[in-house]
Amino acid sequence: MLYYSWIGLLCALAVPVTCNSKSALIIVDVQECFLQGGSLAVAHGNQVVPVINEIRRKYEKQFSLVILSQDWHCPDHVSFVSTHPGTSLYQVVNLTYNKEGQLCFGDNVPDTYQHGLHCNSTAYVVPQTLWPDHCIQNVTGPTSAAFSKQMTRKQDDVVIRKGFNCEVDSYSAFFDNGGFSQTELNETLSAAGISRVFVLGLALDYCVYYTAKDANRLGFNTYLIQDASRGVARSSITNALVDMKSHGIHIIQSADMAHLFVSRAPTTKKYNLFIIPVMFLLLFT
Ligand SMILES: *[C@@H]1O[C@H](CO)[C@@H](O)[C@H](O)[C@H]1NC(C)=O
Ligand SMILES: *[C@@H]1O[C@H](CO)[C@@H](O)[C@H](O)[C@H]1NC(C)=O
Ligand SMILES: [Zn+2]
Repeated sequence: MLYYSWIGLLCALAVPVTCNSKSALIIVDVQECFLQGGSLAVAHGNQVVPVINEIRRKYEKQFSLVILSQDWHCPDHVSFVSTHPGTSLYQVVNLTYNKEGQLCFGDNVPDTYQHGLHCNSTAYVVPQTLWPDHCIQNVTGPTSAAFSKQMTRKQDDVVIRKGFNCEVDSYSAFFDNGGFSQTELNETLSAAGISRVFVLGLALDYCVYYTAKDANRLGFNTYLIQDASRGVARSSITNALVDMKSHGIHIIQSADMAHLFVSRAPTTKKYNLFIIPVMFLLLFT
C-alpha cells in the first residue's frame, strides 16, 4: 500500500513525464540466425521468446509502438570472417572508410572485395569483430534472417532493418557502427510521440546494448529488460550492463514492468486526489 502511495505521489508531481509517457517496445534481432540451430546462435537465446510473448500478452495496450529490428545482410557482408582472407573468427580488424563513409581497400580488405574502393585518403577507422556468416537476406537454413516462428507478431509491428549496407556493420537499430547513416527508427519513435522505450532481445552485449545506448543518448527514457535478453559472452555482458547503468539506462526484469504501468490503473487517480492534501499537511505542519 505504502509503495503504491509513493508511486501516486510521484505521478502527482510529474504527470507528463513519468505517468503519461508513451512507450515503445523494441525487440532486437530475434531471428533464426541467432537462435538455436542458427549460424551465430546465442547461448539460451530461445529462452527470450516466451518471455517476450508474455510481455506482449500482459502489456500490449501499454505500447504505442512495437518495433522489431532485423539484422539484414548481403551474402558477402563486411562483418563476415569469410569475406576477409587470412583472418580468424571473432578477430577484431580495423576497417577504414573515406569521408563519405565508403569502405576503403586496405590491410584486411583485398581489392577483390566487390564492396570496397581505392580511396585517395581515409577519414574513419571502425573496429570490426569478424562473425560467421549470419542473417543473410532471402535465404533459409542456419543463416536465415527470418524472425523466430514462435515469437508473437502483429500486423501493426514496425520492422526496422539494419546492416543492409554491405560495407558497414550495424549493431544498433538506430545507427550503423561508423555513424554514417541512420535507420528510420528515431524518426518513427519521435513521430509517434514516444518518450520511453523498453529494449530487449539478442544479443544483450551487442545489438541490444548499442540500441539501448543510442536510445538513451537520443533522449528516450530507456529500460533494458534483462530476463528477455541473452548475450554472447559473460565478460562482455557484465561490461555492457555496467556501462548501461552508468549512462542512466534502467536495468529491469519483466516482472518489474507491472509497477511502471501502475499509473494507468483506474485507482491511481483517486490516490492522486488523496495525496495532494496529505502533501500539504506534511509540508506545512
Ligand atoms: C532480397 O529480396 C529483396 C526483395 O524481395 C531484394 O530487394 C533484395 O535485393 C534481395 N537481397 C539479396 C541479397 O538478394
Ligand atoms: C586499430 O586502430 C586503433 C586506433 O584507431 C589501434 O589502437 C589498434 O591497435 C588498431 N588495431 C589493429 C588490429 O590494427
Ligand atoms: Zn550482423
